[in-house]
Amino acid sequence: MARLLGASLLILWLQPDWANSQQKNRERQLKQNPPSLTVQEGGNSILNCDYNKNMFEYFVWYKKYPSKGPTFLISILSTEDKNEDGRFTVFLNQSAKHLSLHIAASQLEDSAVYLCAASTQCWVGTRNPYPNL
Ligand SMILES: *[C@@H]1O[C@H](CO)[C@@H](O)[C@H](O)[C@H]1NC(C)=O
Repeated sequence: MARLLGASLLILWLQPDWANSQQKNRERQLKQNPPSLTVQEGGNSILNCDYNKNMFEYFVWYKKYPSKGPTFLISILSTEDKNEDGRFTVFLNQSAKHLSLHIAASQLEDSAVYLCAASTQCWVGTRNPYPNL
């Protein structure tokens, strides 16, 4: 379908309010930008996420298709500055409180909503702090 539109694809992501809903009494702690991105198939995409607290130990990017639950994409520990998994690379800059997800060679299947989440705890066992989402 998207191929008929010139093989461009739209990558979207949301303010992660849902991720913070378990922490309702806190200010929004994560900010994602820009709100959407259009890239050509095969191009690279960069999604940014800023946070405002130094207490986080663990960061996760999720991918979500319409009317489906988010699925785990890639994570990074606060002690790391880079984690790579296939076409996905996450960079963490602790001093800038900045996290970015780089998607190489974007494909049509990458058209989705992306969410970043941060946790003060590390789930080393499952590497998924929100198994119910
Ligand atoms: C991290 O962010 C700081 C402040 O913006 C910047 O000076 C520094 O170069 C960044 N480090 C890396 C590895 O990008």
